[in-house]
Amino acid sequence: STPENWRAADDYLADTLVGHDPALEATLSAQRAAGLPDIEVAPVSGKLLNLLVRISGARRVLEIGTLGGYSTIWMARAVGEHGRVVTVEAEAGNAAIARASIDAAGVGDRVEIRVGRAADVLPTLVGGFDLVFIDADKESNTVYLDWAARLGHPGTVVVLDNIGREGEIARADSTDPMVIGTRDALQMLGEDPRFDATALQTVGLKGWDGVAIALVV
Ligand code: DHB
Ligand code: MG
Repeated sequence: STPENWRAADDYLADTLVGHDPALEATLSAQRAAGLPDIEVAPVSGKLLNLLVRISGARRVLEIGTLGGYSTIWMARAVGEHGRVVTVEAEAGNAAIARASIDAAGVGDRVEIRVGRAADVLPTLVGGFDLVFIDADKESNTVYLDWAARLGHPGTVVVLDNIGREGEIARADSTDPMVIGTRDALQMLGEDPRFDATALQTVGLKGWDGVAIALVV
């Protein structure tokens, strides 16, 4: 249902600025072969995550929602040889697929996968994260933002995926739990004094969606 011109323009941008990437393409093939959903970030967004890690100088990255490891690999490449990515995944099967792809991409020694519900795993983590990428069940987004602030520090970058939801975020009367979870998260980013944030809508390969970017202050 993605308009063909959005897809064509996104493919053009990825061809021009991201390029052919065998390890990431193999990661997507493995994910699809295992029947995981095609809800990983687009190539241009994976590269945005990579650049945000490098621009901010982040060495310790926390990811909530591993799926097949696609965004994990983008960020693991960016943290440098001595950097670390801790990524939390609720589904053990997804984590196994991700582990294999992350190792095959050559960044296995930088990535720790923690299997379990993020609400259970996050309280067990040692803080000090410099960048947090939240891309898991949208219903729990405010819980994840709270942990991002607690496990981060002033200067930590927080990236929240899927804030556009085809414009549904504008519907205050929505009964969709994912929209409600996203709206609650955006309200928290606007009101909670621990954050300073903005959000951008996007169109492309993944349809009409968006991303919020926040600074822990
Ligand atoms: C959904 C989740 C995602 O993280 C995403 O990027 C797209 C869709 C979903 O659960 O619908
Ligand atoms: Mg997402």
